[in-house]
Amino acid sequence: MDSHLRSDTTETSHFLDPAALELRDALTRLPRTLPPRWLYDDRGSELFSQITSVPEYYQTEAERSILADHSAVIAESTEATTVIELGSGTSDKTRTLLDAFVAHGLIQRFVPLDVSEATLLDAAEMLVERHPEIEVEPVVGDFTRHLHLLSAVPTAGERLVLFLGGTIGNFYVEERRAFLGALADVLAPGDWVMVGIDLVKPIDRLIAAYDDEQGVTEAFIRNALTNINRTYDGDLDVGNFGYVPFWDGRQQRLDMRLRACDPMTARLDGLDLDLELAAGEEIRVEISSKFTPERTVEELAEVGFDAESQVFRDDAGDYAVILARRS
Ligand code: SAH
Ligand code: TRP
Repeated sequence: MDSHLRSDTTETSHFLDPAALELRDALTRLPRTLPPRWLYDDRGSELFSQITSVPEYYQTEAERSILADHSAVIAESTEATTVIELGSGTSDKTRTLLDAFVAHGLIQRFVPLDVSEATLLDAAEMLVERHPEIEVEPVVGDFTRHLHLLSAVPTAGERLVLFLGGTIGNFYVEERRAFLGALADVLAPGDWVMVGIDLVKPIDRLIAAYDDEQGVTEAFIRNALTNINRTYDGDLDVGNFGYVPFWDGRQQRLDMRLRACDPMTARLDGLDLDLELAAGEEIRVEISSKFTPERTVEELAEVGFDAESQVFRDDAGDYAVILARRS
């Protein structure tokens, strides 16, 4: 989360697990935010999958075309024997890449990691069928907490870690740095990362992408509150919020906010939390930062992924995939 001051914890908080504490903290500290993971219950994963095919949302197809065009080169230049995918979801676009790795002949293992168990296991099943020649070992985990699990993955050669879908844009800048640093720590010299980034572009296209006509993105954002109500026995009135997609030009990011229409109070029993919101008060549910390839190559280099960087772009120049190696 943001590295702002953490709110004081009360005695009861000792009985809350780390995810609950993190959520309570995020909801009570100002500005109010949410850890992205709350977006991805079964319903959320289904809605996300719908987002990937709404006409205004270009990222998925842009990334798919990049992977289709460069998979063979990526397999050849990395020669990875283990491919790990963080926040793998359906691993849908990853199929093409794995096809190229299998054709190249060195890959032994694919390890998808995601918090959304049902989606992860479905994807793993699909991949086992498609590629019986490699080991598919799904890991249910949180990539902000459980990267150490990757040290337990056996490797006979070099590893390639995929972080696709523009998910890196959903971190705040300090979180992003911490995540990349932690990733560099669990990997060894010679290992690779491949990160998909959405590029800075005119505001109207960005807003349209996160405020689609069909309202799928709005439903996805609202569902996070429904998920929290269910998980923590809460009564947040989801209908009292308006959806506000907001472009923050200074930070180069899109904020997806929910704004309370009327003043409201809510009780979340499982978090031992009474929440009070004034009319107009907002919860920043998700952010989506936009990047330049040059700056991202630099950020990767700052944590040690400073060798053999390559940038792959789609034809329209909307999106990029960056490959870099740990020195
Ligand atoms: N990589 C896929 C999915 C992107 S959506 C694609 O490109 O289409 C983001 C994915 O990250 C979802 O599958 C979600 O369940 C997962 N996710 C979000 N926060 C996570 C966390 N903290 N740890 C692990 N997975 C997470
Ligand atoms: N990482 C992608 C993006 O920022 C997908 C995504 C994550 C998303 N959270 C979202 C898309 C919320 C729409 C709304 O675009």
